[in-house]
Amino acid sequence: MLVEASGMYYRSGDGREILDGTAGLWCVNAGHGRKEIASAVAAQLESLDYAPSFLLGHPLAFQFAERLADIAPPGLDRIFFTGSGSESVDTALKIALAYQRAIGQGTRTRLVGRERAYHGVGFGGISVGGLVNNRRMFTTLHGVDHMRHTHDPSRNLLSKGLPEHGAELADDLERLVELHGAETIAAVIVEPVAGSTGVLLPPRDYLKRLREIATRHGILLIFDEVITGFGRLGSPFASQHFDVVPDIITTAKGLTNGAMPMGAVFTSRDVHDGLMQGPEAAIELFHGYTYSGHPASCAAGLAALDIYQRDGLFTRAAELEDHWQRSLLELQNAPHIVDVRAMGLIAGVELSSRPNEPGARGYQLFLECFEKGLLVRASGDTIVLSPPLIIDRDQIDRIAQTLFDIVRKIT
Ligand SMILES: Cc1ncc(COP(=O)(O)O)c(C=O)c1O
Repeated sequence: MLVEASGMYYRSGDGREILDGTAGLWCVNAGHGRKEIASAVAAQLESLDYAPSFLLGHPLAFQFAERLADIAPPGLDRIFFTGSGSESVDTALKIALAYQRAIGQGTRTRLVGRERAYHGVGFGGISVGGLVNNRRMFTTLHGVDHMRHTHDPSRNLLSKGLPEHGAELADDLERLVELHGAETIAAVIVEPVAGSTGVLLPPRDYLKRLREIATRHGILLIFDEVITGFGRLGSPFASQHFDVVPDIITTAKGLTNGAMPMGAVFTSRDVHDGLMQGPEAAIELFHGYTYSGHPASCAAGLAALDIYQRDGLFTRAAELEDHWQRSLLELQNAPHIVDVRAMGLIAGVELSSRPNEPGARGYQLFLECFEKGLLVRASGDTIVLSPPLIIDRDQIDRIAQTLFDIVRKIT
């Protein structure tokens, strides 16, 4: 149980300080207990607690959209607000389908995702997602296909920086074009860095190649930046870090520093203008949520953005990246370690699985870390780390040392 939080630390139910190695759930990028956010939300609730976003608006939603457009990759300045990452993903997929139809490409109804991807828990997200346990109990959309994932331990173990091998895996989109016909494919969605599956870094030049193939075939490219958005890799979005501009970006989490539930979908002018062609009274996109652009969430988001910009948090991960990678790569000398994948302020530390007990070692490590005052997250037998961007070098060393000590001890 977690009962309080401030800065880099949680307090547990039994009164202990817990160093937050995960920014909550990849979302509290500016650290916990930010007073500016709490006051902005309180003030907003007192002056305008709620306003519908259907046919009506309120100023803060527009201010927030404009501020977001300023930090977005070039041209992605049209913004649709949602209530979470899952809603952002479903919204992006629906915008892609509606756009293709609006521009006379109505045969493009197929969506392409990737194995091992996580895109939230809506039916759209699990359909393009590639995690078997998130899919096997439920039905998924038809007309969805998947590219292969990019994890290649035979060639890329313990890389410092991006994996050297695997750019050609982007050609899997070409394979799906040959199989289905480009004129049936609306969009392809990928996480620039796959997070929840255990942190898989994109092979060098993979994303550029994917962009080229998608463009060549009129397929929209969606980057799911729910984790990578808002400074995780050392720039506002991964798109800027990798210098690849998609057509649509999905975000949530760090958007409000995790303090209020909210997501945002960024689209290019082309996508927006292609879709929004109807007369004044027409509804071009039959989609939207009661809580789209909620005033209190907008207030939280604006306050979070002020902090990110004032405190230089969008570039902080780039400043710390070298230290982060070096500290964590030390773990390769500890027992049970198969791979360490680190960039920006994100990392996956993969442990070997116990025979017939997948996930057991990761779970044990999670528990022992918590006992020792460190919050990490286990994705199967991979420990995933994504601390608040306000972390300092000593705290990074403490994370690495705690993991090192525990991993030597566990069975
Ligand atoms: C890449 C990605 N997309 C979507 C989601 C879903 O976000 P939410 O849990 O806010 O619905 C997540 C959550 O971790 C995510 O990592």
